[in-house]
Order: sequence, then C-alpha cells, then structure tokens
Amino acid sequence: MRLTIDTGKCSGHARCWEAAPDVFDIDDNGYALPLDVEVSDPPADSIRAGIAACPERAISLH
Ligand code: F3S
Repeated sequence: MRLTIDTGKCSGHARCWEAAPDVFDIDDNGYALPLDVEVSDPPADSIRAGIAACPERAISLH
C-alpha cells in the first residue's frame, strides 16, 4: 500500500508524527514533510492512528 501526504492540506497539527514518529516527519513549525512510501498491508496500527488523527485528512493510504 502507498502512504502519501498532501502537504497542501496540512495545517501543522503534527498529530501524525505524534502517532508514528518513525514514519511521519515534520518541520520546525509542525508541518508534515512530503511523504510517498510503500507500507505493509495491512498498515501498522501506528500508521492508521496517524491517519485517523489528522483533522485535515491530508494523509492517504491507497
Ligand atoms: Fe499535517 Fe495532519 Fe500531520 S495537519 S502535520 S498531516 S496531522
């Protein structure tokens, strides 16, 4: 599965990083850095938690 972030939708909540700091990365202002990686199917619980935690729905799994 492919995990991506639409950085245009990111508002800097940093909740994705709090849930899965080994997967998501943020800049000094809390905005997600671009991400486009292959992850296992099903994805790890921490990744799903990070996706669910984003209030902007900026993170996609497809
Ligand atoms: Fe941005 Fe959502 Fe993460 S707003 S920093 S992608 S929780």
